[in-house]
Amino acid sequence: MCGIVGVTGTEDAAKVILEGLKRLEYRGYDSAGLAIVRPDGQHVVKEKGKIRNLEAKLNADDMVGTCGIGHTRWATHGAPNAVNSHPHTSGDVALVHNGIIENYNALKVNLGKQGHVFQSDTDTEVLVHLIDELYKGDLVNAVQQALQVVDGAFGIAVTHSDHPDLIVGARRGSPLVVGVGEGSNYLASDVAAIMGQTRQVIYLDDGDMVTLTPEGVHTFNIDNETVTKEIQEITWDLDAIQKGGYEHFMLKEIFEQPQTIKDSFRGRILAEAGDVKLGGIHLTDWELRNIRRIVILACGTSWHAGLVGEYLLEEYARIPVEVEYASEFRYRSPIIEPGTLCLVMSQSGETIDTLEAMREAKRKGAKIMGITNVVGSTIARESECGVYIHAGPEIGVASTKAFTSQVTILALFTILLGRRNILSADRGTQMLNELKLLPELVQKVLDQSDHIKRIAEVYAKHTNCLYLGRGVNFPIALEGALKLKEISYIHAEGYPAAEMKHGPIALIDPDMPVVVIATKDGSYGKIVGNVQEVAARDGKIISIVTEGDTEIAALSDHVITIPETMNIWTPLLSVVPLQLLAYHIAVIRGEDVDQPRNLAKAVTVE
Ligand code: G6P
Repeated sequence: MCGIVGVTGTEDAAKVILEGLKRLEYRGYDSAGLAIVRPDGQHVVKEKGKIRNLEAKLNADDMVGTCGIGHTRWATHGAPNAVNSHPHTSGDVALVHNGIIENYNALKVNLGKQGHVFQSDTDTEVLVHLIDELYKGDLVNAVQQALQVVDGAFGIAVTHSDHPDLIVGARRGSPLVVGVGEGSNYLASDVAAIMGQTRQVIYLDDGDMVTLTPEGVHTFNIDNETVTKEIQEITWDLDAIQKGGYEHFMLKEIFEQPQTIKDSFRGRILAEAGDVKLGGIHLTDWELRNIRRIVILACGTSWHAGLVGEYLLEEYARIPVEVEYASEFRYRSPIIEPGTLCLVMSQSGETIDTLEAMREAKRKGAKIMGITNVVGSTIARESECGVYIHAGPEIGVASTKAFTSQVTILALFTILLGRRNILSADRGTQMLNELKLLPELVQKVLDQSDHIKRIAEVYAKHTNCLYLGRGVNFPIALEGALKLKEISYIHAEGYPAAEMKHGPIALIDPDMPVVVIATKDGSYGKIVGNVQEVAARDGKIISIVTEGDTEIAALSDHVITIPETMNIWTPLLSVVPLQLLAYHIAVIRGEDVDQPRNLAKAVTVE
């Protein structure tokens, strides 16, 4: 989604901004721009499409300067074109904005009466005119006054040519991070943008404002009170956000899974006691035993991980679970009874619907546990307790390694709760010993990538695809379908296999590929019947089966095997071929796998 980069100091600002914007490309955007501030005014260049288009448009002389702000825009209000892209300007003020100004229409009418002329169709442009209108020599004061009258969410960076080395930032709802450097300081919406420059960062919270000059940074609030913030050190490596020889980030991340799954469980297993230790959850055994109901809040792939969690928690910990789309949960009046634990699942920790759903659940008295990947993200900071999944930076927009790490953590949490009620130590030990083997088993699935690619070649031109699974493989069917539609733009649907006959069976013909996840478990016998129903109608069957399977394999046009494992771990294996299938199909179709059209990595607007 939209990205912000700002720098003030001794460096060539345009260069730093372009480098930062390129590091934010993965988040999804459709236009980009930058403004370098000099005493003679704002020097703005904006362009539709990729950063390379913006780069091509830059005039070297015009871009000389050491203070500036840049932006990647993901269109909400107004088409993705150069005029609507940020920075927006009014007089000597330039502004970039993530989020949505909800009362922009009313403000626009008033500003219009005061003589302001608008260039774009955006909500953002209203804010820059408002700041310009309120500016009487003190930029901070003008921003503070303006923010008092705007409704909505924002992360902003503002400059003024009267103060050519000053950047003013403010956050309400959209993340902002300050990079503290030597001689230069940075402001960004995501640490990835500035980690080539500095590893010392300050995460801003809602309500925080900041001023940056080459000499230092100052954090305060809208009432001008100083807010003391801690400087934190980024521990991960720049390599983590580079492709490392792979053609795409998505492929790299799929292949990292043996390692990332290991990173998720490392140090958390007490195999002999059949138990699990999750450092960040701060709940006593008494509190854990008194969890009466779990509500999982999430969006997208994280929601699918939550559905896997529902199966696991109900089966092995015997606690009732509901998995809610965060966007729906936040707008109805959810019932939170005593003893309710909300698991808030978000790779980025910034998805606005998930964040707001979490805040609503908190208001209603639920205990909140965040399960996130990005250290220091808003959900991580606002949760009462939580677990990091430790998957490392995920750059591909289509989530892969974060999903398997989320499922790993949900399974560990299941064992932790299970051991406090019905699960025996022996069973816990068996499960955890088996988990230690999982990275190797995932590697065995990855080794079939070429085989899966050949299957992809057969189906890359199709326009529809159905995914079927039962039990814990039903959410895997949903996730497989989501992966395919996200990056290949093929229409795909996931269904519980038995539900097929209540509708989708009407679609089955020789042109309909059907991916069936039919691993050896309690529902195997039933799914054989469902596969026969597809075969009887000449649908094309691609099956994901357990090694040694003959029955479903005999009915299938293509077979992908996964090693045998315990049911609790099956999803970690069965999802991998589906990630690879989607990946290879998208590559064959020539699509931009890492930055699929219209999608964003972290959706920070409603
Ligand atoms: C976006 C991404 C998805 C992701 C979803 C939830 O839609 O494109 O890949 O699953 O947001 O993101 P989160 O960071 O909250 O897990």
